[in-house]
Amino acid sequence: MDADNCAGGRLYSPLADGPETCFDPSYLAAKKSIDDRALNRYVWTALCQALPQTTGTEPANIVEIGAGIGTMLTRMVDWGLLTGPATYLATDCDGDHLPLARRYLAAWADERGYPLHWLEKQRSRLCTTQAEIALVFETVRAEEMACRTESRGTFHLAVAHAVLDLIDLPAVLPGILSQLTSNGLAYFTCHFDGATYFLPEYPGGEEEEILRRYHASMEARLTGASNTGRRLLNMLQGPGLELLAAGSSDWLIHPRNTTYSGDEVVFLHALIATVEQELAGKSGPAPAGLAAWARTRHQQVDMGTLTFLARNLDLLARRRPPLP
Ligand SMILES: C[S@@+](CC[C@H](N)C(=O)[O-])C[C@H]1O[C@@H](n2cnc3c(N)ncnc32)[C@H](O)[C@@H]1O
Repeated sequence: MDADNCAGGRLYSPLADGPETCFDPSYLAAKKSIDDRALNRYVWTALCQALPQTTGTEPANIVEIGAGIGTMLTRMVDWGLLTGPATYLATDCDGDHLPLARRYLAAWADERGYPLHWLEKQRSRLCTTQAEIALVFETVRAEEMACRTESRGTFHLAVAHAVLDLIDLPAVLPGILSQLTSNGLAYFTCHFDGATYFLPEYPGGEEEEILRRYHASMEARLTGASNTGRRLLNMLQGPGLELLAAGSSDWLIHPRNTTYSGDEVVFLHALIATVEQELAGKSGPAPAGLAAWARTRHQQVDMGTLTFLARNLDLLARRRPPLP
């Protein structure tokens, strides 16, 4: 695949007639267990405490932006956030994710013995031991979602995981937040914050320049994208908002006894390929030694000697009720 890259190695390619981004579903599935480990438990616990206070006796009404193949929903069930009745609107700009999400969720529900009934192609009902969830998938861009007037002020929780680096935050974020109820919550997680490291140290100075150019390519795509984590940290302390919790959710992958999990292998190879493809002659000449760098780092994955670290942030904010 002629893949472009976005922050932290999120694999995508621009399509001529389709959505601007197209993420490899096997990468998204592999990323799930990496994200499970990375997600900040302090921020997660704060979400678990705040959500019932926000919903009160109403069914939780949740929207996810850039939901991919549906991994966050499965996490929210598995980790016990969703109890009782809920509606979950999973949105993504890429319509190709819908059949994959159906398959991913069917396999997940089947494994746990949860009934999952599809009422239509995009609507289903999921019953777990604790929750009953009306699930709706919608192919819609965050930019469009942000402009909707009919759902303004209706969601108790907006979720965005590893996606806001693809979105023009000053233009779109206020509209997304306007979809929240008074006291509604924004749970924005695994957003890249400007630092990528590969170990062991690469001989010569090439890697420094490769990573500098890699981060610059994110900026060329969207100003501020390479620092999305800290931009959100600032924006979520703006007027009408209260930052309830913030913490790191770094991706850190290291070999154990020269081996990785299957997901880690997929994830690491995808990251290295992404860096190489992003910089291979797209905007000016490729950095010196790029192909040799990628070859070496791929070989280190195969040999079980590579360590990878990328800095991400998790944030939980609340929309303050309007002043009387
Ligand atoms: C890195 S993937 C993350 C997917 C999912 N949140 C996860 O972590 O598995 C980014 C997702 O955002 C979607 N996306 C990209 N730009 C978007 C936009 N402007 N509006 C809505 N979704 C978008 C992509 O199609 C992709 O599914």
